[in-house]
Amino acid sequence: MCNTFGNQKQRGVKVLLDGKRIAIFNIANKRSIAWSIAQSMDAQGAELILGYQNERTQASVEKLATELKNKPLAIVPCDVTIPEQLEELQETIRKQAGTINGFVHSLAFAPREALQNPYLFTERDEFLTALEISAYSLVLLARTLTPVFSDEASISTLTYYGSEKVMPNYNVMGVAKAALEASVRYLAYDMGPAGVRVNAISAGPINTVAARGVSGFLDILEVHEAKAPLKRTVEGREVGDTATFLASDLSSGITGEVIYVDTGYNIVGL
Ligand SMILES: NC(=O)c1ccc[n+]([C@@H]2O[C@H](COP(=O)([O-])OP(=O)(O)OC[C@H]3O[C@@H](n4cnc5c(N)ncnc54)[C@H](O)[C@@H]3O)[C@@H](O)[C@H]2O)c1
Repeated sequence: MCNTFGNQKQRGVKVLLDGKRIAIFNIANKRSIAWSIAQSMDAQGAELILGYQNERTQASVEKLATELKNKPLAIVPCDVTIPEQLEELQETIRKQAGTINGFVHSLAFAPREALQNPYLFTERDEFLTALEISAYSLVLLARTLTPVFSDEASISTLTYYGSEKVMPNYNVMGVAKAALEASVRYLAYDMGPAGVRVNAISAGPINTVAARGVSGFLDILEVHEAKAPLKRTVEGREVGDTATFLASDLSSGITGEVIYVDTGYNIVGL
């Protein structure tokens, strides 16, 4: 196998995301799914804009970015609860990239207590926070970044099977993911006439900071490994490669879909 980006370039072989400029929100650390996506897209020739939430994660993203083959066009703050920051984001993208060919939404949050106590006891503010950050933010980012989209842009987001079936302690996050998946369909409908595609990747469980916030997450990993047809959990790289496919022209006929990258877990009944 000598199919590296460098070799492909040298041989003049077109790589999947050649000439595509894509923004990825947000990377926290090297375990983040967003980082796996960045690595896969970078290997396929994309020019990236990398997002981080706060100063705590900024340094980590800047350090990780040095590992990429192509220097990112920009590394930008993106806290979806700060509207002015999103306006600035649009301006930065306009200045640094001109237009983008889409973005990846890989961010979510729910207060820890809401991922420990029974769903019945979810407080109003916990519910609203989870839904705002994990679902509404997709709509907000799509609207804010539409003015800097090139023709035929692609938006992808990350969801989880807990939107459809009960996963112990996933609770309000399952409700938020259900809203996120419905938003994917409504956005795909609204944005389709302009050539914009919107899809979700339903990733199997991966050991990240966000995932460890769900009480009993390690049990979910174990059950997944035992029951999934491939008898293993999914790798970040596999999710990253699917995001690359969705950002590429190879997926030009796909929109409004939830694509499972979960080693087959969702097809199993018992
Ligand atoms: N890890 C899994 O098992 C798994 C499975 C399926 C889907 N997902 C989804 O993948 C996405 C990425 O999560 P991850 O597992 O890589 O964990 P992660 O902790 O690495 O990433 C979560 C990201 O959300 C960001 N974030 C939180 N609050 C934010 C805010 N107010 N504004 C902007 N960004 C904010 C964090 O900074 C972080 O970068 C999430 O949507 C998650 O629900 C994860």
